[in-house]
Amino acid sequence: MNSEQRAITVPQFTAMKAAGRKITMLTAYDHATAQLVDAAGIEGILVGDSLSMVVQGHANTLPVTLEEMIYHAEMVGRAVRHALLVVDMPFPSFHLGVYRAIENAGRILKETRCQAVKLEGGEEQAEVIAGLVSAGIPVMAHCGLCPQSVHQLGGYHVQRDETRLLTDALAAQQAGAFGIVLECIPAAVAARITAELKIPTIGIGAGTGCDGQILVYHDLLGLTPGRLPRHVKPYAELHRTVLDAVTRYRDDVRQGTFPGPEQTFE
Ligand code: KIV
Repeated sequence: MNSEQRAITVPQFTAMKAAGRKITMLTAYDHATAQLVDAAGIEGILVGDSLSMVVQGHANTLPVTLEEMIYHAEMVGRAVRHALLVVDMPFPSFHLGVYRAIENAGRILKETRCQAVKLEGGEEQAEVIAGLVSAGIPVMAHCGLCPQSVHQLGGYHVQRDETRLLTDALAAQQAGAFGIVLECIPAAVAARITAELKIPTIGIGAGTGCDGQILVYHDLLGLTPGRLPRHVKPYAELHRTVLDAVTRYRDDVRQGTFPGPEQTFE
């Protein structure tokens, strides 16, 4: 395997559904994180536009630019050896016509070592998905709660229009998407969509009936204090651990106990 090859390809990722194997995905935004996530055997790593919120500190995912996505995806791309690497197309990099979408997704593929892009939308993005796929660019769709439409939706709410959701998912599959993220939809609807689709569904706030799950890395580790969305299960409380370590370092320096003899050169 040369350094550009990954263990998990797009067809292998898709084939996990038929094999009945659950798919795990996590976000990553930098090299060190991506190395850890990859080493844990997670099958898919997403450089999500959630980096706008969890890394850049914006209120929503709209401000992050294509350049910034590429900058972070390059770091992640240099670390990943095993997982399928997917990069989010930020708003509005795929809203300005098929030509511009191919140009932007092409840059992401050329500059970051990723294998696929993800974009928000179903039926209304079918033409763009088909255009990207015909250019040889694998596309993961994203239906249900689409955070880039937060202003249109009036907030981050569970999406319950079953007909709309099924239509979107089927349209994305028909257009050639190799997988689809289902965000914040009722579990029964996600299970029905999963049963009707040939391509894998990756849930976030969509119940266990999906073919796989994805979480934001910072949420999984409890890195951000405060109220978490209902669909998040923090597997650690790292904000406490980090705060404790930084506070002890501060105190050691103030008291003159760091550096100690072990950290000092004669
Ligand atoms: O941007 C992101 O992190 C995402 C996942 C939450 C699916 O789109």
